[in-house]
Amino acid sequence: MASAPVGVAVIGAGMVGRAHAAAYRNAATVYDLDAPAARLVAVADVHAPFATDAARRYGFARAETDWRAVIDAPDVDAVSVAVANGLHREITEAALAAGKHVLCEKPLAPSVADAQAMVDAAESAPGVVNAVGFTFRRSPAISAIRQQVTEGGLGPVRHLVGNYWCDYGVDPDRPMSWRYRGGPGSGVLADIGSHLTDLAEFFCGATAGVQGTTMATLVTDRPRPLGVAVGHAGGVRVSADRVPVENEDICTFTASYPGGAVGTFALSRVAYGHANTLKLDLFCENGTASFDLTRPAEFSIVDGGPAQPVNGVRTVPLGPWHPYLGGGLPMDFPTVGHGQNDLFVFQARAFLDQIAGLDRLPPCPDMAHGLHNLKVLEAVVAATDKPEPTRGGKPMQISDSV
Ligand SMILES: NC(=O)c1ccc[n+]([C@@H]2O[C@H](COP(=O)([O-])OP(=O)(O)OC[C@H]3O[C@@H](n4cnc5c(N)ncnc54)[C@H](O)[C@@H]3O)[C@@H](O)[C@H]2O)c1
Repeated sequence: MASAPVGVAVIGAGMVGRAHAAAYRNAATVYDLDAPAARLVAVADVHAPFATDAARRYGFARAETDWRAVIDAPDVDAVSVAVANGLHREITEAALAAGKHVLCEKPLAPSVADAQAMVDAAESAPGVVNAVGFTFRRSPAISAIRQQVTEGGLGPVRHLVGNYWCDYGVDPDRPMSWRYRGGPGSGVLADIGSHLTDLAEFFCGATAGVQGTTMATLVTDRPRPLGVAVGHAGGVRVSADRVPVENEDICTFTASYPGGAVGTFALSRVAYGHANTLKLDLFCENGTASFDLTRPAEFSIVDGGPAQPVNGVRTVPLGPWHPYLGGGLPMDFPTVGHGQNDLFVFQARAFLDQIAGLDRLPPCPDMAHGLHNLKVLEAVVAATDKPEPTRGGKPMQISDSV
């Protein structure tokens, strides 16, 4: 018998809020039919046209301009917090206190202190599911490679090379937005480095140390927006005056993991022509595997089989025998393809399942996991190679579980 529907609301109808809204709409269409459906109650955005557009587009009953209306609503059981990082804490704490299940976007908060307060609030809300949105853990290809690391023939990772390159900051005349405010570490590191540091731990275990961070800001000021600058802030008219950019465009560093694995990372939001390129190369004890987000429905692998003379790197198209795909897509056979939006559907389904007490998908990482990720990001900032007293770097032990 199907579980009772869960009343859901999405707070923030910008780039990722729309992905959450669309995902709740589709969550009951994937996997088994006995899981709870989402009852699409409300979308809240301080910018009324965004709230109205998303509510109509994705079939939510109400559009709100004040997130508190969602928190106070008795017909809302669960919320996605999909606003700028600096707003996560206040909204999440209020939602948890009101007994709502919360799926908060990554990074969990702008600082370790804020994230710790959110974890404390979650611990004071027994029976309430608290989660953070590390969606790439639900990439079928990334999960398939991980299976090969943990159960298959690749064996432990010796060297992970992680690159996340975006170009949303290339144009110096794109307007100022929340993504460019907040000081060292709150730029490309928090925005997309949070994903990559989390994925590295998905493969290698808890970060043991961070070394040799370099951060650079190449576009040092941006025009003030004349309209609402959301997402990657394209398409907004700008004024003639410019305001300083407060955080980094580029961040590179290395990290070490239990067993001696090494990670090398390059993050950029000014990588010309790369809108959203996340690449992982995993050099393991018995083989090598690679993933490229620009080709999300496949991965490459080379290992001991087949025998020579036909051994070499081979591309594996994903199919229903790989994680998440069997029943996770309307057409789930190889070459049909899937993309990043689908990961939000898998995530929404896992979140709704958790609320109903079902545990068929890997559960969403909890807020303690999000706090741990913030500690890793803090260690990356502390390992900067710039000789500034407040950022002089030393490797840091991080013992939290992942
Ligand atoms: N998991 C992922 O893959 C992924 C992808 C993109 C963004 N994110 C994360 O999602 C969050 C949002 O990012 P985004 O790119 O969607 O931002 P965005 O700027 O596109 O959208 C934010 C929205 O919040 C609204 N807003 C601002 N103040 C508000 C308030 N007080 N109450 C309600 N709404 C308010 C804005 O009007 C805007 O529509 C960030 O934490 C980001 O790191 C995660």
